[in-house]
Amino acid sequence: MPEASLHAQIRDLLGGDPDSPRLPTVAQARRRCPPGAVMACRRGGRELVLVTRADGRAVLAPDRCPHDGGPLSDGFVDGDQLVCARHGWSFDLDTGARSGGPDAARDRPSVRLALESADEPARSPA
Ligand code: FES
Repeated sequence: MPEASLHAQIRDLLGGDPDSPRLPTVAQARRRCPPGAVMACRRGGRELVLVTRADGRAVLAPDRCPHDGGPLSDGFVDGDQLVCARHGWSFDLDTGARSGGPDAARDRPSVRLALESADEPARSPA
């Protein structure tokens, strides 16, 4: 019987990808993330935040706040907004546009999150 590679042994031991063992895949997070909640996950090599809206629709965004790099997966959903827990910037979940928070009118008001559907297959690299 052939011996499993070290990579496969680690993957089996950890139950996932040894490159990001602490993060669920998008599909796993989709099953675990209830309406109104956020959760860190991964797609390919990217760390993302999954946001499940109250109506069950879900979107993904990079898990890094454009303000100061805080993890958006530590934030929360407020209606149609994702709010970063670190300093309170908020983002519209339909457009990704910055929608509020401290100094929203003068401090980088055009910032926008790159949203993507949580229900579509991963994009292949260009
Ligand atoms: S890091 Fe998100 S609001 Fe500052």
